[in-house]
Amino acid sequence: MSDTKDSLIAAARDAAQGAYAPYSNYHVGAALLFEDGAVVTGANVENASYGLSLCAETVAVSRAMVEGRRGGLVAVAVTGPRTQAQDAAPITPCGRCRQVLSELAQLGGTDPVIYCVGEREVREVPLSALLPDAFGPANLG
Ligand code: THU
Repeated sequence: MSDTKDSLIAAARDAAQGAYAPYSNYHVGAALLFEDGAVVTGANVENASYGLSLCAETVAVSRAMVEGRRGGLVAVAVTGPRTQAQDAAPITPCGRCRQVLSELAQLGGTDPVIYCVGEREVREVPLSALLPDAFGPANLG
């Protein structure tokens, strides 16, 4: 495993410790890597009104954008809780998060690799494969 990938996954796992997930008890971490080497993380934040819960990826993108980032997204790591189930599938970003990640990626013209982390497997998928023909800023142009 490359150092970059390894440390991005470690950052996502670390971020998951900040999750507020008392309802699902499913703690998710996300770490975004930018062209300048910066890493911005997020964790899921749930709500007693369940449908208002925020995913880790959305929290990370929001944090990055509030910090002023408008592109330069090169890689994303997403981790779910550790599990005994060795055959558990790697976690992939939900549909809404794919769109949220795509906005930030499209602003900078990148197609970030998404590291979907499982117990035995890290699936590496370009965002464009998770969300083909994405709607984005250019559509409103
Ligand atoms: N969750 C994420 O944070 N990211 C995803 O891509 C999938 C789901 C969160 C939402 C909710 O707090 C918990 O995982 C269970 O669905």
